[in-house]
Amino acid sequence: MTDERLIVALDYHDLESPKKLVAELGDAVDWYKVGMELYYRVGSDIVTWLKGQGKHVFLDLKLHDIPATVGGGLCSLMNLGADIVNVHAGGGYTMMKTACDMVHEAAAKQGIEPPKIIAVTVLTSINDEDWEQLGLDMPIKSVVLRLAKLAQKAGLDGVVASPQEASIIREACGPDFLIVTPGVRPAGSDANDQSRIATPSQALKNGSSHLVIGRPIRAAEDPRAAALAILKEMETVK
Ligand code: C5P
Repeated sequence: MTDERLIVALDYHDLESPKKLVAELGDAVDWYKVGMELYYRVGSDIVTWLKGQGKHVFLDLKLHDIPATVGGGLCSLMNLGADIVNVHAGGGYTMMKTACDMVHEAAAKQGIEPPKIIAVTVLTSINDEDWEQLGLDMPIKSVVLRLAKLAQKAGLDGVVASPQEASIIREACGPDFLIVTPGVRPAGSDANDQSRIATPSQALKNGSSHLVIGRPIRAAEDPRAAALAILKEMETVK
């Protein structure tokens, strides 16, 4: 019924709404993304609850600080039970490597499976004007690719990327690297505020390993039917 490649984004501000959606989706969805809005409001209760329901959690808190702080932060998130956590690749190689080593050492000591650690390369919301203001000369795509390779060298498991960037990253980083992509819209559905979008099958063909989908499921009249339609489309690309 479900497909491990689908991650549903729980962008809510209270604990009851995500619980209702998870119940409605039932066995159709195993993976959920908890981001800043929800986590900063309800705290770790949502992660504990999802894990209690037997679900997998991508805790999308995008850590960016000095190496020891990010490493310590990720260890805390690991102990909440998060299955995927993330950092900003802009924190640099040393930050990513140190944080990754700290998580793996702590997991080994505790005899638990470490979470997958992925990196945000360049935020997909950054446009050409934002980029120019940052004073960076290289094209965005080159920096995305450079940071993806750096994340891989530091031992990370993958990156968050737009469906348009997925193919160049897949080519450069090989078949096992996780490429988690938001900005996915089934054909004919509302783009909302996303601009660089792809359909579920296009994103998978481009090399995405996981699709993060929020509003097309959450805001649908029948969320379970919307999820099942997406899963059916995903099945066409294995
Ligand atoms: O509702 P929608 O499908 O657009 O949700 C996409 C999710 O992915 C949201 O939680 C959004 O914050 C997140 N995201 C994104 N673009 C990024 C990183 C995360 O849309 N570059």
